[in-house]
Amino acid sequence: MSTELIHVTINDQPFEVPKGARLIDVCREKGFDIPSFCYYSDLALQASCLMCLVRIEKMPKLQTSCTITCTDGMVVTTQSEEIEKAQRGMTEFLLANHPLDCPVCDRGGECELQEMTFDWGGLEERFTEKKNYYAERYLSPMVANDPQRCILCKRCTRVCDEWMGEDAIEAGNRGANTVIGTYGGWLNCSQCGNCIEVCCWTELIVTKLVRGN
Ligand code: SF4
Ligand code: SF4
Ligand code: FES
Repeated sequence: MSTELIHVTINDQPFEVPKGARLIDVCREKGFDIPSFCYYSDLALQASCLMCLVRIEKMPKLQTSCTITCTDGMVVTTQSEEIEKAQRGMTEFLLANHPLDCPVCDRGGECELQEMTFDWGGLEERFTEKKNYYAERYLSPMVANDPQRCILCKRCTRVCDEWMGEDAIEAGNRGANTVIGTYGGWLNCSQCGNCIEVCCWTELIVTKLVRGN
């Protein structure tokens, strides 16, 4: 990244930041909370969760801060009624097929999705259709998959491809039926566990044997 500094304004506060810095990182570094699910700084951008929305002056729509590079004179708002409404809408979509059983979920109390919805004081639930059901299953002796809780951020598939060069897991099917799976039903890979580590908030892919839960 360049050592040249540029000026940006975030929530009415002026800052000097390195030219070329990513907006989501800058906002967080300056103490402004930006929710995100698909962004992982060491992985290629996915930009699919649409949670990291911000308002940037002179831009017509809300922007995903994970895909924006800071430019000189940029004026950014990270919190407003408009932004929260959009984030609530995206979360409602994410939960459309997600079981609403936080009190009995293994990750209850340490889940960003749960934290966020609780902080907002609950979400509207307009999806009344029956949720898809896919049973939890082992993909290998070490890795199990619980598609019900997957929010399709694809951190796991990116880490497997980009860090490990194995490309052992991928999203299959389409639309509401999309699930993370393997090519051929079984995970023939080095069992590094990186996919489990990056799926940290919902533990979609769990090392039951390793973690003993
Ligand atoms: S299994 Fe986890 S990391 Fe992979 S797409 Fe689903 S939520 Fe994301
Ligand atoms: S354990 Fe490692 S190699 Fe196997 S699917 Fe996960 S990230 Fe890929
Ligand atoms: S974190 Fe920016 S779109 Fe997901």
